[in-house]
Formats: sequence, structure tokens, C-alpha cells
Amino acid sequence: MAFLSDAINRIKPSPTVAMTGRVAELRAEGRDIIGLSAGEPDFDTPEHIRDAAKNAIDAGHTRYTAVDGIAPLKQAICDKFARENGLDYSRDQVSVGTGGKQILFNALLATLNPGDEVIIPAPYWVSYPDIVGLAGGVPVIVPSTAEDGFRISAAALRAAITPKTKWLILNSPSNPSGAAYDADQMRALTDVLLDYPQVWVLSDDIYEHLVFDGFTFVTPAQIEPRLRDRTLTMNGVSKAYAMTGWRIGYGAGPKALIAAMAKLQSQSTSNPCTISQYAALAALEGPQDYIAASREAFQRRRDLVVAGLNECPGVSCPMPQGAFYVYPSIEGLIGKVSAAGTTISDDEAFANALLDETGVAIVFGAAFGLSPHFRVSYAASDDTLSEAIRRIRTFCQGCQEP
Ligand SMILES: Cc1ncc(COP(=O)(O)O)c(C=O)c1O
Repeated sequence: MAFLSDAINRIKPSPTVAMTGRVAELRAEGRDIIGLSAGEPDFDTPEHIRDAAKNAIDAGHTRYTAVDGIAPLKQAICDKFARENGLDYSRDQVSVGTGGKQILFNALLATLNPGDEVIIPAPYWVSYPDIVGLAGGVPVIVPSTAEDGFRISAAALRAAITPKTKWLILNSPSNPSGAAYDADQMRALTDVLLDYPQVWVLSDDIYEHLVFDGFTFVTPAQIEPRLRDRTLTMNGVSKAYAMTGWRIGYGAGPKALIAAMAKLQSQSTSNPCTISQYAALAALEGPQDYIAASREAFQRRRDLVVAGLNECPGVSCPMPQGAFYVYPSIEGLIGKVSAAGTTISDDEAFANALLDETGVAIVFGAAFGLSPHFRVSYAASDDTLSEAIRRIRTFCQGCQEP
């Protein structure tokens, strides 16, 4: 009898977390490493949010809470959805979890039976297929292309739907491509879904506030109210308020789904960290100026990184609408040999050679289901990004035909 379960054998460690670990190891060895692999803002959590957490501790908010969130936080989430997304939810339609990741995890584990299919556009956030697999579902990957702006078409979505399809996971703006769907592009997808009443939508809106050049963010339940009773709209404070370590995410959807997710959470983590819930309350109810300031900084960095990468021979970098990632192609480098003699056979070989030869850590595209690309997280200072671009350019210039 095997000791490890089939479920655990269906998943792999998160490649992005693994790269972050490798960066830490190399730094500990004294190497000069520029880490552009982590998916988190480099800013500090705003002061009024940190103060709210300290006050919560002093006020004795240090015990278990209701399983899926304290009432004032749920109310602040309802207010956020009404204010920013034109969506009306009541508190019993809201679930708070330990990060958006737990919300996804709860929703999929609470609904998937063996063989149920989940449509995931590629490139995708690394955790989607693994969470689906762990829950016994089957990820159905729908590839997109750089030419189509890394967005899937209505026709591709329709072609992927089968009688076994239970969910479509949409992530706009996207990790890793930064691509976002505007209202018309979103409507093209929601129109298709109206024809398939058994398909639910899980909209991962975690990068909602990081959109550039005046782009207007939209979410499926807002675009098509008839999908409201089969949509889980997921969001969180990690990326919007530089709160990745506080571990608070939330979702809103039909009561029966929210209740099933709470049942699961009651038997796993009990409740999200009490102190973090009070911090998230301050984030949602307090001043929102951090959001605009970080958006401005990220837009400037995006422009710097896209321009710099497009000057690297063999690299082609599209301009994304949001998030803090770019997802360039290295098609022009495949088959070449680096200055230190490594053959760039695929994007994983590129990522390894880049790290070994220049000390720049990025994540290879195969981890996100679309090659030959790599993901750069530009959540780093302008100086760090400029130095990284300089090293990447030198590396690419050194790549020659064999
Ligand atoms: C697309 C996407 N969804 C969800 C998450 C989860 O965020 P958290 O669990 O910190 O809320 C991340 C984090 O990297 C992400 O990139």
C-alpha cells in the first residue's frame, strides 16, 4: 500500500514558490541575485492598516472568529462590491479565507466530483490546475496567443465546453500575462456561458486595481447579471494593499456555495487570522490612496521593462493592461547557445541559464502552460529593474547560433 495519497501525487510544488526558495538559497551562498520571480508588491503595507492590526491585538481581538469572517469585514466586502463593481451581495453571500488561494481551494473542493472538468485559459496562474487536480477534477486548458493579447476567444471557450464542464476560471488582469478583458471581450465570453447553464464562473479578480492607461476593469457578474447565481467573484487584499503575508482573501457568490465553503473551512483552518481580518477591514474601509500610488509606480515600471526587454535580441514583449507581470516570448532564442555554452532548448533552459550566468531569477513559461515565454515580475525598484534588463540584454546578445 502506497503511503502517499493519489491526490497528493496529482500535484506538484508551486514552481514560483520553488524559484523564490532558490533565490534565497543562492543569496545565502553569497551570489548577487536579482529576484524577479515573486508575485508580490515590494511596497510596505500602508501604515493605517498596520496600526489597525496592532490596535486589534491590544483590543483583545486574538481569539477564534466566525468560520468565514467577522461580520464587519463581511459588510466592508459587501460595500466594496457595491461601490467598485456595482454588485449587491449580502453578508451570507460572502466568504473570507486565508488568502484568495483558500477561497479557490474551498470552492473547487466543495464542488468538484471525480472527472468534472474545469476550463482554464493558458497562460494560467500555476495553482489552478493543481487545485483542480487535487479536488479530483480535470483541468481543460484552453491556450491563448500573444497575437490575441493572451485572451481566449468566444469560439475557443465554446469548443472547450462539454457536458462535464463545471467551472470556467477567469483571471483578468492575468498572472502571468498581465492581459485583461475589456467589457466587450468579457461580454463575448459571458454570452457563450448563457448557453450552458451547468457551467459556473470563478472570476479571480485579485489584480483588479492594477490596471493601466485608464483601462476599465470589469468582472463577469457585473457584465452579465444573469450569471450572478452561478458566479463566484474572488478577490483579496494581497495585491491591492501590499498585504500578501496577512493572508486574507474573499469571495462572493450564491448562498449555497458560500455555506459549503464555510463547512469545509470549519474543518480545516477554522477561520482566517483574526488580527489580519481587522487589518483587512481597515484596508477596505480606510483611505484608498495607496491603490492609485501603487498603480502609478507599476505602470512606470511596466513601461520601463517592456521597452528594455524589446531591446533584447530574440525577445519580444507585448504590452500588458494590468497586474505587475510581463510575459515575453523567447522564440528568437530557441536553439541558440549562450555565452557560457548552454543550449537554449526551451524556456526552462533559458531560465536556468539566465539565473546561472547573470543572477537574474525569472519564471519559465511552461510553469504557466504556455511556451516559449518567461514571466517577469516587475514588483521591484526602478534601479533593480534597469540592472536586470541590462543583464538580460547582455545574456541575449551573447546567445549565438550553434
Ligand atoms: C492570479 C492569482 N490568484 C490568486 C492569488 C492568491 O493570492 P492570495 O492567496 O495571496 O490572496 C495569486 C497570488 O499570487 C494570484 O496571482
